Amino acid sequence: MQTFHTIAELRAALKIERLQDKSITFVPTMGNLHDGHMSLIRRATEEGDVVVSSIFVNPMQFSANEDLERYPKTLEEDKRVLEANGCHYLFAPDALEMYPDGKRSQTQIEVMGLSDILCGASRPGHFVGVATVVTKLFNIVQPDCAIFGNKDFQQLKVIEDMVRDLSSNVRIIGVDTARNDDGLAMSSRNGYLTEEERRIAPAMYQTLLWAKEALLANRASHENIREQAQQKLEAAGFRRDYFEIRAQNNLQTPSEEEKRLVILAAAHLGSARLIDNLRVELA
Ligand code: PAF
Repeated sequence: MQTFHTIAELRAALKIERLQDKSITFVPTMGNLHDGHMSLIRRATEEGDVVVSSIFVNPMQFSANEDLERYPKTLEEDKRVLEANGCHYLFAPDALEMYPDGKRSQTQIEVMGLSDILCGASRPGHFVGVATVVTKLFNIVQPDCAIFGNKDFQQLKVIEDMVRDLSSNVRIIGVDTARNDDGLAMSSRNGYLTEEERRIAPAMYQTLLWAKEALLANRASHENIREQAQQKLEAAGFRRDYFEIRAQNNLQTPSEEEKRLVILAAAHLGSARLIDNLRVELA
């Protein structure tokens, strides 16, 4: 695997691949890679000839009070696992390579209607930062296909809609959430949990499973399921952010008749903010 820190070097290497008619699959990340990321890389090796990944902790998607400074940085270990799982090129720019002031660009991409709900309501500006950096990364890498985790379901939707709206020639694939044996979705932010919090954390997945079961059995209204789920999370030790039942296609509040649903949860546990989701298809 070759690692490049500048846009020019990466472009030169990928130009040679493209001249040989190789297809390029891209997995953007912020590093501190775990098995969830590796499932994306492995999927990428099945989709195209050349696998490119990026590691960039994007300042534009963090607000002032968030964890930008303490976000774990493990570049050498990340390089080792990327290479072992079949990645060919790593793009690891610093902030000044990506933004003139090292923080943000003048041009911003906003997917209206999707960016300010759910995680966007709790993290204003987050999805503008994500959509803008992913657009930049797509322009730099020019992939045929890009792979994202379903764990960040709203992010995946934002990117799918952005690609559609901007007529980008990138095929987007979502890959199922990788989970620990106890069900906790893999996330770099799990590293912020104390031993006691780590023990509590799978309650989020268990609550999602409970809500899914309740929807499938048509046991209560969406509103009632949401409220009971919040209470379960709080009883386990989480602090409330949101627990929502939404339509899969647009993440808006669905009618009680909607069949393709997604349950999305976000909650704080100690100093970590955890998110997870489950899709539900009603008969
Ligand atoms: O999901 C992530 O790791 C980031 O949001 C992404 C897509 C790499 C953009 O910075």
